[in-house]
Amino acid sequence: MTTNDPFDPIDPVNPLEPGSHKFMGELHVDAEQASRSRSLDTRDHHLATSGNALLRADEVVAGYVPGVNILNSCDFYVDEGEMVGIIGPNGAGKSTLLKALFGLVRVRSGNVTLKGDDITNLRADRLVRQGLGFVPQTNNVFPSLTIEENLQMGAYLAPKQFKDRFDYVAGIFPRLAERRKQRSSALSGGERQMLAMGRALMMDPSVLLLDEPSAGLSPALQDEVFVRVREINNAGVTVIMVEQNARRCLQIVDRGYVLDQGRNAYTGTGRDLAHDPKVIALYLGTLGAERDEGTKDL
Ligand SMILES: Nc1ncnc2c1ncn2[C@@H]1O[C@H](COP(=O)(O)OP(=O)(O)OP(=O)(O)O)[C@@H](O)[C@H]1O
Ligand SMILES: [Mg+2]
Repeated sequence: MTTNDPFDPIDPVNPLEPGSHKFMGELHVDAEQASRSRSLDTRDHHLATSGNALLRADEVVAGYVPGVNILNSCDFYVDEGEMVGIIGPNGAGKSTLLKALFGLVRVRSGNVTLKGDDITNLRADRLVRQGLGFVPQTNNVFPSLTIEENLQMGAYLAPKQFKDRFDYVAGIFPRLAERRKQRSSALSGGERQMLAMGRALMMDPSVLLLDEPSAGLSPALQDEVFVRVREINNAGVTVIMVEQNARRCLQIVDRGYVLDQGRNAYTGTGRDLAHDPKVIALYLGTLGAERDEGTKDL
């Protein structure tokens, strides 16, 4: 048994303690580099540093109901190879921002670009073809279908690639392959998240958008999910991750955004945000409290 398989019980002798050095080691966090990172950005600084962005949103206004804007001039970018987190209170617009990037909510003004090309309001299936993958917050697997059928759905735009992609996903999540003929309704919450990620990876995305991949999981399984996400990122996939587990999220991402009422409240490196007194007082006090115990690095 190894702790590398998310479906194995956690090793009782060496558990992946939240915040432990083993855990941080698994995530390849360079503490020295993190401690040298700059202080929180201003918008000008944000714009100045975003010149090489792979995917970006500029002054995006979006909403669901006519006359009600949920995102109010929101800025966001991710560089190629980066892992970026988005945190903030419930209802802040985090999921809406991901949906705006992925063409699932209408952008009323502002724009979204991918490698410099305008993709504002392009349909999600077009964006999948351009290398974006999205794992929604809820209903992210088809429970009545088997694991294999779910993965086939993920590859529906490129069925010929199924075998290659299946082997790739099986390499990351071996237990999905072993249980490929089982219905997804039999999966645990953590396994379901792995399947949802696996399904998005079937199209070989260059950017993966994850909406609360650790929601509803035990602390140990949350850490397993984060380790997997970091592995996927280390393999070259750019990752944008919305997380309710704000403290843990800021520990593992390269950069983070705090959204509040559809606006950028703060942005900076994960480490700077996690240590900023205002961010702690306003956003981490309650948001991160449930995961604070045993955390040595913060
Ligand atoms: N389909 C929808 N129709 C109308 N309003 C919506 C819809 N989806 C979300 N909203 C509203 O938009 C606002 C932002 O929602 P969003 O889901 O983006 O928040 P969030 O930051 O992801 O919150 P949470 O942490 O609870 O997931 C909320 O007020 C929500 O009620
Ligand atoms: Mg949400």
